[in-house]
Amino acid sequence: LARGAAEPDLAGRHVVVSAGGTREPLDPVRYLGNRSSGKQGYALARTAAARGARVTLIEANTHMADPAGCDVVHVGTAVQLREAVIKAAADADAVVMAAAVADFRPAAYASGKIKKKDGQEPAPIALVRNPDILAEISHERARADQVIVGFAAETDDVLANGRDKLRRKGCDLLVVNEVGERKTFGSEENEAVVLTADGGETPVPHGPKEALADTVWDLVAPRLG
Ligand code: CTP
Ligand code: CA
Repeated sequence: LARGAAEPDLAGRHVVVSAGGTREPLDPVRYLGNRSSGKQGYALARTAAARGARVTLIEANTHMADPAGCDVVHVGTAVQLREAVIKAAADADAVVMAAAVADFRPAAYASGKIKKKDGQEPAPIALVRNPDILAEISHERARADQVIVGFAAETDDVLANGRDKLRRKGCDLLVVNEVGERKTFGSEENEAVVLTADGGETPVPHGPKEALADTVWDLVAPRLG
């Protein structure tokens, strides 16, 4: 291997990575969204490709160029993301849900722009729950030996909440970030703890998103069927 080249430990594997943040439309010009940049998901896709995997990257609203060597599927909403993930996961060895999925979407979509009316307070926006994609693919696995990874951003009781979320979602690994005012969103760097369903805890020091991505693949590779 050339110096700096990754070990091709994912050769012959198909991995699916979701990245970005879903947008849930209210009307033709407005949406409910989140601040996920998609950079961590893209780093996961690039590092997996460098390690020899066939990569399907499912991207929601990142506005980044398609990474070389990956099949890229573009989606907008959580419902579209769910469809794309389930389809791609059917023959995947590993699925990493790095995308920030909106928990709720507007109950109704207005086909015309919502207008304000003189002297009237705005109507509240009714919301409904979106499907939990990570829990669904973990509890109804397409393949018994598939490795499924979730992400969680927490502000308080980071590790306890992470453990609890890992158990509820039923995934194999959970990457837990502590978020604060200046942490994580849009940044080039990340700091996290990777929890595993078998009780493992791997801290990843503050550093480039590629380093966290490689740590995730280091933990995924030996668990592949
Ligand atoms: N996720 C998902 N579908 C959803 C919500 C979240 O697949 N509808 C995935 C995310 O991609 C992430 C993981 O679940 O990998 C955890 O997301 P998070 O928002 O932390 O979990 P929630 O169960 O929504 O919990 P919370 O109430 O803390 O937001
Ligand atoms: Ca959520």
